[in-house]
Amino acid sequence: MISQNSIQQIQSQIDIIDIIGSFIKLKKRGANYLGNCPFHHEKTPSFTVSPSKEIYKCFGCGKSGNAIGFVMDHEKYSYVEALRWLANKYNIELEETETSPEFKAIQLTSDSLFIINNFAKDFFSNALLNTEEGTDIALSYLKERGFNSQTIEKFQLGYNPSTKDAFTKAAIEGQYNKDLLIKTGLVVSRDEKLMDNYRSRIIFPIHNQSGKILGFGARIIKSNDKAPKYINTPENEIYIKSKILYGSYFARTAIDKADECLLVEGYTDVVSLHQAGIENVVASGGTSLTIDQLRLIKKYTKNLTIIYDGDSAGIKAALRGLDLALEEGLDVKLVLIPDKEDPDSYVNKIGAAEFIDFVKTEKKDFILFQLEIALKDAGNDSSKKSAIINQIAETISKINKTEDFTKRQDYIKKVSELLKVEESGFNALVNKVIREKINKEEFKNTKPNIDFSETDNFQQPEIEISDLLTKDELHEQALVRSLLEFGMKDWDDKQKVADYFFNYYDELEDLIDNKKLVTIINLYRTLYREDEEPTVKNFLYNEDKELNELIIKIMDVQSEISPKWKEHYEGHIPTREELYKEEVLSTMNYLQLRKIKRLILENQEEMQRTADSNEQMICMQTHQHLKKLESEITKKIGTVIYK
Ligand code: CTP
Ligand code: MN
Repeated sequence: MISQNSIQQIQSQIDIIDIIGSFIKLKKRGANYLGNCPFHHEKTPSFTVSPSKEIYKCFGCGKSGNAIGFVMDHEKYSYVEALRWLANKYNIELEETETSPEFKAIQLTSDSLFIINNFAKDFFSNALLNTEEGTDIALSYLKERGFNSQTIEKFQLGYNPSTKDAFTKAAIEGQYNKDLLIKTGLVVSRDEKLMDNYRSRIIFPIHNQSGKILGFGARIIKSNDKAPKYINTPENEIYIKSKILYGSYFARTAIDKADECLLVEGYTDVVSLHQAGIENVVASGGTSLTIDQLRLIKKYTKNLTIIYDGDSAGIKAALRGLDLALEEGLDVKLVLIPDKEDPDSYVNKIGAAEFIDFVKTEKKDFILFQLEIALKDAGNDSSKKSAIINQIAETISKINKTEDFTKRQDYIKKVSELLKVEESGFNALVNKVIREKINKEEFKNTKPNIDFSETDNFQQPEIEISDLLTKDELHEQALVRSLLEFGMKDWDDKQKVADYFFNYYDELEDLIDNKKLVTIINLYRTLYREDEEPTVKNFLYNEDKELNELIIKIMDVQSEISPKWKEHYEGHIPTREELYKEEVLSTMNYLQLRKIKRLILENQEEMQRTADSNEQMICMQTHQHLKKLESEITKKIGTVIYK
């Protein structure tokens, strides 16, 4: 765990313009900065960063957050990973707090494994480039296969010499722990002696998202029936096979940009395609895709294109992962490489430009492809054919996310055509499969938003939560917003806005329905009483995630005012800044009004309860008085600026 102290240090150094500016181009516009939103495609910038409030908001896609949140979203980091990244950027040494002994032990082992792997990478790289055996046997082999020096350097390829224990010796000399060396898989113990596991092999380091080495793939140079072609790192604290996608470290920005991830089978496929300038590519290692790998891909893009050779076992493995991919909402396409070739050999044969063209023209929809193959296979066998229909209905039923509804209907249409069956009948079959699943409570936690009845399929429009807010809620938010933004401004020459606010607050507190907002106000008061000057920033990095999001949501980041507006006003448009007193008064009055309305109701109830004519008289007078107050305040409220 990173200590609170370090977290605070990071927060205090955060410069949101500097941070976001290191990922996207920002231009100054008035008090804010503007750029193209990295979270959705846009041609005119609507991504706004407010340096004073330390938040960003995109007026196009609605995404918003603080600086840490941006690093998390953009780099697909966890909170802790984002903190580490920031600490690194600002040269802050992180203090770690005590954690459980087990966790600490794992942490310690992981750190050591990374250190050994890094040492090994350097050793293998040196052996490849700077030893006679390396250049003669390994480097020449790589060059013959067409890998250039730049590529070899980028992927940090290496060579493990043929000597029994060249690496082991160096590692022992370097005082690395024997048990840990064995754990990395680089060293094995034979007859109580330690020796190199990857002797005479080309080494492919496997990097995690931040470029640290998780393990290695080691390829034999001269094929040999007795030895496996590749040896891979055994499972350990850091090498978890189901989570590994080779090349993802080098591919992530390209995947983001292309909004597509190409998936190949092997290490060499990734490296060759990169060298050819096709960088949005990762490898699965030929096994069926796991849910963790799919989720990793989905962090970057929904579009997955599998490029395999047609008769490889990998195709079948990938097919097994298809249902999972559909459930994750991925769009899966397939490109088959011609006979006896794989992406590596094929790109070397036809060249980069033609390969890109080939992928574009050969890209097939995976579901339809699967169906075509099965139909060809079934021929005229009607029982096989009905099995296929059931199977494909099952597959399509996995497309069950609300936002994928159109996609599902599209498949139903296309599949009906291919199967030569009535669309309505096939639609009914798919719906039946889905209903059965619901009945089986497979969907226990994923409340579907779709009406599944056969005749009446429609997609519910996605409703923004903010659209559902009532006027009361918006006023509550406006009240807190004005306190956060203007609390430290002068109310008059004696007091600040916050003083004025808290004079009335006690009697208003109960009127605020959203208790999170009450929490924010109380936090503000505590800080203020402790003689600090609370600002938005005090709340931006609160541990309470919900509270954090609420604040970002209610804060106002002015979007660019359109030139038309400016024309319309012929000059000066008053800003919220200038009208702050009015805004504070107005939001507070609104709460007052709410209070009076409640009193009126209570008074009316009282009047109905009592039989005493005297008391009724008093109630009548109270009523008139309250009504008068109500109308006075209503007049005062005018227009409140809220969003
Ligand atoms: N693989 C493996 N173990 C093996 C064989 C293959 O882990 N014994 C994995 C590797 O990740 C390999 C991928 O499956 O990269 C694809 O295997 P293959 O097509 O046989 O190898 P290529 O990557 O094409 O390697 P090369 O081009 O050097 O033959
Ligand atoms: Mn190959």
